[in-house]
Amino acid sequence: MIFFVTLQPMKKRAYIETYGCQMNVNDTEVIFSILADAGYERTEVMEEADLVMANTCSIRDNAEQRIWGRIEVFNQLRKAKPALIVGIVGCMAERLKDKLLDTRKVDLVVGPDAYRSLPRLLEAIGPESPQIDVLLSREETYADITPVRTDRNGISAFISIMRGCNNVCSYCVVPYTRGAERSRDAASIVREACDVYQKGYKEVTLLGQNVDSYLWKSETETVNFAQLLERVAAIAPDLRVRFATSHPKDISDEVIYTMAAHKNICRHIHLPVQSGSSRMLEKMRRKYDREWYLERVAKIREVMPDCGLTTDVIAGFCSETLQDHEDTLSLMEQVGFDWAFMFAYSDRPGTLANRTMPDDVPADEKNRRLNEIIALQNRKSLERYRAQIGKKLEVLVEGPSKRDPDMLCGRASNNMMCVFPAEGRAVRTLTEVEVVDCTSATLICK
Ligand code: SAH
Ligand code: SF4
Ligand code: F3S
Repeated sequence: MIFFVTLQPMKKRAYIETYGCQMNVNDTEVIFSILADAGYERTEVMEEADLVMANTCSIRDNAEQRIWGRIEVFNQLRKAKPALIVGIVGCMAERLKDKLLDTRKVDLVVGPDAYRSLPRLLEAIGPESPQIDVLLSREETYADITPVRTDRNGISAFISIMRGCNNVCSYCVVPYTRGAERSRDAASIVREACDVYQKGYKEVTLLGQNVDSYLWKSETETVNFAQLLERVAAIAPDLRVRFATSHPKDISDEVIYTMAAHKNICRHIHLPVQSGSSRMLEKMRRKYDREWYLERVAKIREVMPDCGLTTDVIAGFCSETLQDHEDTLSLMEQVGFDWAFMFAYSDRPGTLANRTMPDDVPADEKNRRLNEIIALQNRKSLERYRAQIGKKLEVLVEGPSKRDPDMLCGRASNNMMCVFPAEGRAVRTLTEVEVVDCTSATLICK
């Protein structure tokens, strides 16, 4: 008897840790898709991987410090497995380029626009020949690549609609690590959203550094962000649509009215203010002032009184006085955000602020101001959450609550997290709950 044995090439395994913003989460999914073509399958167990990578963030110094620590850990792993490939991709790869190869042992450095070259680079890696590609592109949007979803529940998918950023906020590294802004083909976005809906997803989040400046032009059509939202919302009435991030200078009435006109576009806007002082906003090159920001908030609340509003705030930017800081506190008091991401200013090499403005608020004073901002926001969050008590909200059931496995959890349209008893409710469905109590980050419902 003769046996024919076909030798299947053994699949190699890739493990990726993702740091930074949601766009990086989506980029990791794109990378897994590209790696599949190079014969790699995804593993969530670092120890069994042939390739370990960190998809990195440079936004603040502490984000980079964490990565240096991870590179140490990856290299420890290499001791047991000499053939292991260690890669650094994403914003820190783009910022530090070949400097990353100088001090630590890294085999692969790839910037955010160069992921298509991964198979070629992996092929070329040798013990003494690390590979690097950090070219930025004016066109790359990975429009044709179907991301390998890495979320655990198959309910909510991120879709990048644009890359890069054309705003040169003086404190920010993103324009240097991600390059010029470019919008992705509208048809490919709608196709991807349809595809995830057909696979059972119930929510899509459209991602970009400044979604309001989305603009796709082809020979036959021009599509702005409001029109794109409309098209994605039209896919199915039970597909929830979210988006981030909005820029206060660009969020248009058309976007606000489009949200209001579609029940499945979630009532939540992340609108980073950064500072409540017009003088600081000018130095930050945000291109709006305090009055403009407050007017946009007033417009949003006039059209959608129930709209959730969250923000980002930076404490202790260059030359910030106590009065500027007070202006931030008073703006936060006045607006009453549901939630905020709050940071101490971190000087980033190469930015306009780094080159032209002294980082002159001492670290302990920055932290003191930050703590004041955090304390105020905690009080405001509790107020905003309390104001929901007695309301009936529609939530998308995501699964068991982390704190209490007997309860379910899910987000309301305004992005507030709700926990509620199962009582026959099914995961992945929209259900109505009534808010009976709260903390400053969770609504407790029945
Ligand atoms: N594109 C978004 C924000 C992207 S970065 C926007 O324009 O709003 C996310 C947040 O990180 C920013 O909103 C800002 O609050 C914060 N951030 C950016 N650079 C920073 C720095 N150098 N120091 C501290 N915080 C910073
Ligand atoms: Fe950075 Fe400003 Fe662009 Fe946001 S809009 S990514 S803060 S440069
Ligand atoms: Fe960080 Fe890059 Fe996102 S610097 S915040 S990972 S765009």
